[in-house]
Amino acid sequence: MKILITGGAGFIGSHLADRLLIEGHEVLAFDNLDPQVHPTGMRPAYLDSRVALLAGDVRDRRALAAAIDGIDAVFHFAANVGVGQSQYQIARYSSTNVLGTANLLDILANEKHGVRKLVVASSMSVYGEGLYRRPSDGAVVAGGIRSEEQLARHDWELRDAATGEVLIPIPTTEEKLLRCESVYALNKRDQEEYCLLFGRTWGIPVVALRFFNAYGARQSLNNPYTGVAAIFMGRLKQGLPPLIYEDGMQSRDFVDVRDVAAACSLVLRDDRAGGRVFNVGTGGQISILALCKLLGTVSGISIEPEVTGQYRKGDIRHCFADCSAIESLGFSTSITLAAGLADLWNWSAAQEVAEVLPAAHEELKGRRLVI
Ligand code: UD1
Repeated sequence: MKILITGGAGFIGSHLADRLLIEGHEVLAFDNLDPQVHPTGMRPAYLDSRVALLAGDVRDRRALAAAIDGIDAVFHFAANVGVGQSQYQIARYSSTNVLGTANLLDILANEKHGVRKLVVASSMSVYGEGLYRRPSDGAVVAGGIRSEEQLARHDWELRDAATGEVLIPIPTTEEKLLRCESVYALNKRDQEEYCLLFGRTWGIPVVALRFFNAYGARQSLNNPYTGVAAIFMGRLKQGLPPLIYEDGMQSRDFVDVRDVAAACSLVLRDDRAGGRVFNVGTGGQISILALCKLLGTVSGISIEPEVTGQYRKGDIRHCFADCSAIESLGFSTSITLAAGLADLWNWSAAQEVAEVLPAAHEELKGRRLVI
C-alpha cells in the first residue's frame, strides 16, 4: 500500500514509517517541520531515506490534497502536542489540531481519492483522571479533578466525593467518561469524533488510537513540552537533578514507541478495527519516582531527584490503560520498560540538549500553570 503519515517526521510518525517500510509499504510523510520540534527546520536525520517527505501544513488545502493523491491509507498524526502550552496558545492549538483535521476530512469528502482506511492519533489525555475503585464498597468510580485547595494542602491522592476515602486506581477502559482538562485534550477528543463521524457518514473504516505515555528514541530532548522520560533524560545528561512534581507517587502507563507503531500497523491490517477506539498502552503502571530511579539505573547516573511538591494545574494523579480491546485483535507489547529506557538512553548519548527546559518551567510558573 501507499501510506500517508501526517506528522510523519515526528517522534511517533517516524517510528511508524520504519515499521511500514519493513512491512513492504511505500510511505509518504507530510510534516510542517515545526521549529519547536525540529530546530533546524530540516528533514530529521533519523527519518529513513526511503520515506518521501512533503513539507507542508495540514491547514494548507492544496498542499494536503496533493499529498493524498494516490494514497491507500492515512495515519493522521500531525498535531501540536504540548499540554501546558495548549492552555495559553488556544487559537494555535485548535487551528492546527481541529481545523487541520477538518481540512483533511473535507478533502476526503470532496475530492477523488483512493483512501480505504484512516487512523487518527488520540491520547489518554481525553480521559482526564483514570478509573478508580472505592475501597469501602468496591464501586468503580471515574476520578474527578482534584481541587486547588486539596493540592495546596499537598493532599495528592484522589478522594471519593461522598466518603472522603482515598480511591484505588484501576485500569482505564475506553468506555470511561471523557473529562478533558486541557485544550490539547479537547482537540484530541474533537479529532477522534470528527474522524469517526466522517467514517460513519462516508463508509470509510476509521480507527482512533488513544496513546498512553509513549517514550523512546527521537523524542525531542529540547522541546520543553515533551514527555517526562525525555525531560528527565535531558536533566541527567546535563548533570542536573530531575524535578519531580507532587510527591512522585503519581503514576502513568509508559509504552515504548515501537510497540505503539506495532499497534498502528495492526489496526491498519485488521478489518475488525474500523469505527472503533482503542487504548494503546502496556496495561501496567509505574510511579514517576520509580521511573526516575529506573532511568538512573539504566544510565548509570546517580543524581538524586528533587521532589519539589510543586504541581501542574489540571495534572491527573493516575491513569493506566485497560488494553483488552486491542489485545482481542492480537496486540501485545514486546518491549519492557527497562529495555526501552536503556534504548532511549543509548540514543540520547549522541543528542545535544539545549537549555530550554528551565525557561519553559519558569513560563508555566509565571502563568500559574505550575504552582
Ligand atoms: C500528557 C498528556 C498525554 C501526552 C503527554 C506528553 C494528559 C493527561 N496527558 O501526559 O496525552 O501524551 O502529556 O505530551 O494531559 N512530571 C514531573 N516532572 C517533570 C515533568 C513531568 O514530575 O519535569 C510528572 C507530571 O507531573 C506527571 C507525569 O510526570 O505526573 C507525566 O507527565 P508528562 O510526561 O507531561 O505526561 P502526562 O501529563 O501524563
